[in-house]
Amino acid sequence: MESSVALGRLELAPSSSAGGVPLTSRLPGGSQAHLNGCVPLSHQVAGHKYGVDKVGILQHPDGTVLKQLQPPPRGPREMQFYSMVYAEDCCDPCLLELQTYLPRYYGTWSSPDRPNDLYLKLEDVTRHFIKPCIMDVKLGQRSYDPYASQEKREQQIRKYPLMEEIGFLVLGLRVYKVCTDTFDSYDQHYGRGLVKDTLKDGLSKFFHNGVSLRKDAVAASIHRVQRILRWFESQHQLTFYASSLLFVYEGGMERKEVAEYNNNNIQVAEHWDYTPCEEDNSAWKQSHELQRPPNGNGNKSQLQGKDVDGEEAKGQGGDETETGAGDAEVEVRMIDFAHVFPSESQDHGYIYGLKRLLTVLEQILCDAA
Ligand SMILES: Nc1ncnc2c1ncn2[C@@H]1O[C@H](COP(=O)(O)OP(=O)(O)OP(=O)(O)O)[C@@H](O)[C@H]1O
Ligand SMILES: [Mg+2]
Repeated sequence: MESSVALGRLELAPSSSAGGVPLTSRLPGGSQAHLNGCVPLSHQVAGHKYGVDKVGILQHPDGTVLKQLQPPPRGPREMQFYSMVYAEDCCDPCLLELQTYLPRYYGTWSSPDRPNDLYLKLEDVTRHFIKPCIMDVKLGQRSYDPYASQEKREQQIRKYPLMEEIGFLVLGLRVYKVCTDTFDSYDQHYGRGLVKDTLKDGLSKFFHNGVSLRKDAVAASIHRVQRILRWFESQHQLTFYASSLLFVYEGGMERKEVAEYNNNNIQVAEHWDYTPCEEDNSAWKQSHELQRPPNGNGNKSQLQGKDVDGEEAKGQGGDETETGAGDAEVEVRMIDFAHVFPSESQDHGYIYGLKRLLTVLEQILCDAA
């Protein structure tokens, strides 16, 4: 229980940006730069958007993601959570394992001209991918925490009355369509429109590249979610409300030289050549692996074989051999911790949601067999 207590006790540390992070700008020419070269995150699929809402998510020139602190108590609570999980002297095995399911945390960041606007500096979970297909799924049986006002509770229930029964909600996604070399995007309204009978097909959209279902990505996602479920079943110290799982898989196929200019693939990216009617993704996987640089897409400073803190770049996808995960390179990470609280029991709502989500993913795979 020590770390639970710590979560309630942690004090706000003064802004301490991650030391030694290279600030080399790799933004393409002509991109609208503000806040010291930071720009709105181009591949954000849900949540508060910079320029639209009061707070939003930016991308730093070094490739990390900057999440602006929400007004208290949410922002400070999320910062305290990250500080606790990534505390240098942390030796709680439960939290050490939890680190592997979260984006890496590099402290806080603020722009010199606005030192009071704090941002959480986080690993960009999509950084290894060339054509990242991304989905944000909110987990749990309720989207409000125990301290929420009656008004907030009602508002959240109105948004998705099925949350309690279904246990998760798709907040947004984008999926790469190989034939057109474009992304199809779906916002929060898409997920809210899904009911029990349409959930499976609704979710399977994320894994469909316009020609075939990416069974390899479904299988690898299942494996990742199972690991997170095992962590939840083993821990009794934290409860998560309105927190999400961020799914990412590679949507691209084979490459040829073309430049793509967005702030996810900032330098020269490749064009993906697609052979229609390729039913089996294993063929894709083979050629993909042969041609892929060892560190993923090798674009940003965060991607040059090392993470910003100098460690070898290795996501959850890096341990396939050890764990026997599916074929695809897939990331499933927990994000959004504005409503995490100390607890003394299992997080039944989150576990319920994970199990329901697994059931639907397994059905998708089963139907495709
Ligand atoms: N570490 C990350 N790497 C890549 N993308 C991220 C990362 N963190 C967030 N995102 C993108 O930003 C979106 C919103 O993130 P998040 O849920 O943390 O913010 P939010 O919902 O606006 O926050 P809050 O609920 O605290 O107001 C995600 O759906 C995802 O697309
Ligand atoms: Mg969110």
